Amino acid sequence: MTQEQWTRVDSYFDELFAPPDAALDAALKATSEAGMPLINVAPNQGKLLHLLARLVGARSVLEIGTLGGYSAIWLARALPPEGRLLTLEVNPAHADIARANIARAGLAEQVEVRLGSALITLPQLVEQGAGPFDLVFIDADKASTPDYLSWTLRLTKPGSLIIIDNVVRNGAVSDPDSANADVQGIRRALAMVAQEPRLDAAAFQTVGVKGYDGMAIALVTSA
Ligand code: SAH
Ligand code: DHB
Ligand code: MG
Repeated sequence: MTQEQWTRVDSYFDELFAPPDAALDAALKATSEAGMPLINVAPNQGKLLHLLARLVGARSVLEIGTLGGYSAIWLARALPPEGRLLTLEVNPAHADIARANIARAGLAEQVEVRLGSALITLPQLVEQGAGPFDLVFIDADKASTPDYLSWTLRLTKPGSLIIIDNVVRNGAVSDPDSANADVQGIRRALAMVAQEPRLDAAAFQTVGVKGYDGMAIALVTSA
């Protein structure tokens, strides 16, 4: 099995289920032209996030890690007109590009890009009594994922869905002795998910245009 095959199959699936889209394509182009890393979710992963948001009937979505707003656009498009998405981003250049991309997608009214480290903005949200959010997508620096998960538990309610990106990283996640801080962050977060009585979860491996990785999905089952 090769990357070339995974990419070819993703292209095939995208033709069927995530065809070219002016706003999404422009968002990726602007992200690339700004010299930002193209580490956004793949089109079919964006479509999956979109469907999951619709499945839970999400009216409020929280995203941790905006980049150029690509996944935010997919998620915000799942919202009803009065629905809102808040996305947290530490890098001012990323936030600027994301705001432009989100405005071009016609979602400026529904989406707020909040600048600052999520390690600061998440406690502020709790302090302000924000939430509960119906869906939270955790996709920022991996080492801090356990912290993001802790705050997320205070910003969700029974029925909320928590999605964690990049839980496989080429298989490195299964190594308990990994010296990589990202891997250890993900492992700690997954252990928290497993031990948390308020959560029920699954994690799965994926291959595709982004290589070999995966996501975890946790349902908040009780308060
Ligand atoms: N969700 C995006 C990709 C996010 S990439 C998509 O799929 O389209 C990860 C982003 O997290 C980067 O833009 C990075 O700047 C941001 N980030 C890293 N550390 C952060 C922190 N402490 N707080 C908020 N955002 C952070
Ligand atoms: C990286 C981060 C991501 O969120 C992702 O989906 C892929 C790669 C990274 O930092 O390399
Ligand atoms: Mg990611």
